[in-house]
Amino acid sequence: KTKIILDTDPGIDDVFAILFAEAHPDIELKAITTIYGNVTIENATRNALYLKQKFQLQADIVTGASQPIVRPPVGPTVVVHGEGGFGDVIVPAEVEGQADPRPAYQYIIDAVKAEPGEITLVAIGPLTNLALALQADPTIVDLVKQVVIMGGAFGENNHYGNVTPFAEANVHDDPHAADMVLTASWPVVVIGLDVTEQSFFTREYLDQLCDDAGEVGQFIWNVSRFYLRFYSEKVGLEACHVHDPSAIAYVINPQLFTLREGPIRVVTDGVAEGMTIQKFDSRVYLHDEWMDKTPQKVGVAVKNTELLELYRSSI
Ligand code: BDR
Ligand code: CA
Repeated sequence: KTKIILDTDPGIDDVFAILFAEAHPDIELKAITTIYGNVTIENATRNALYLKQKFQLQADIVTGASQPIVRPPVGPTVVVHGEGGFGDVIVPAEVEGQADPRPAYQYIIDAVKAEPGEITLVAIGPLTNLALALQADPTIVDLVKQVVIMGGAFGENNHYGNVTPFAEANVHDDPHAADMVLTASWPVVVIGLDVTEQSFFTREYLDQLCDDAGEVGQFIWNVSRFYLRFYSEKVGLEACHVHDPSAIAYVINPQLFTLREGPIRVVTDGVAEGMTIQKFDSRVYLHDEWMDKTPQKVGVAVKNTELLELYRSSI
C-alpha cells in the first residue's frame, strides 16, 4: 500500500480524487491536509470533515494555510466549484468532527519524519502547505517517498493555462510556493493540464457511475452537476476534464503516463505569472535559472481509456 497525505482544496474534482484514493486498495489515505484555492480555507476544512463523516474516512483532517506566501490572494473560484465548493450540494454550516490541532505544514513534517521513506505527498491544490513545510524543515526533502502534483501546464497541445493563457489555477494561486516545491531536491512528478485535459468524464460516464457505484457514485454525480454546467457554459464542453483524479491514478499506476524529465521553474510575476517552464531541450544551452535545479518529471501523455476504466472499477 502507498501511504499518502492528500493536500487538497475541495472542490468538485477534489471530491472525485479523495473518494478515488479512499476506494483503491493500493492506497492508504493517511491524512487530508486542506488548502485555500477553489474555496476559502474554512470551507475547505469543513468540506473535508463533511466527507470524513459521510464516508467514514479514517484519514486525519488537518487545516492548512489561508493565503499564498507572497502574492495577494486570488480568491475562491465560485464560478467553477460553487459558493461552498461542492456545487449544488450544500454542506451544513456545522459539521461533526475536529481537525488535527497542528497546522498542515507541521503535520506533514511530523508524519514524514515518523515514517522516513514511506509517505507520498499528493498535492491537488495550491502548493502553499508544501512550501511552508519545506521552509520550516528542509530535511524533509530526503524523507518523503515522492511528491505527486496536479498543477501546471507545459505547452503540450499549445496549451499553457486555464485561468490565464499562461497559468494553471493551482500554480497561479501561489507561484512562489510552486517554484519552491518544484525546485526542491525531492522527487516530484507533475501531472498538469497537458495530461488532465486529455481525459473526460462525460455525462454518460457519470450517469453510469451513479447507477453502479452506490452512495459514492451518487455523491459524485450530485456534485458534478454544477461542474458540468460550468464546462458547458464557459468551456463549451459537454463533459469535464479529469484534473485531480489523474494525480491519484498516477500513484496507483504510473504506467498510464508518459513522463518527460528536466528542471522546472515558475514565473512569479508579470503577465505570465504562474507559468510553469521545464527545461528539457538539449538545444537550450544558456539556462542559468534552471541550472543546478533538480530534474523533475512532467506528464506529457496518458492512456485515457485505461485511466477511465481504473476510476470506474475503483469507485
Ligand atoms: C485545478 O484547479 C482546481 O480548480 C481543480 O480542483 C484542480 O486542482 C485544475 O486547474
Ligand atoms: Ca483541486
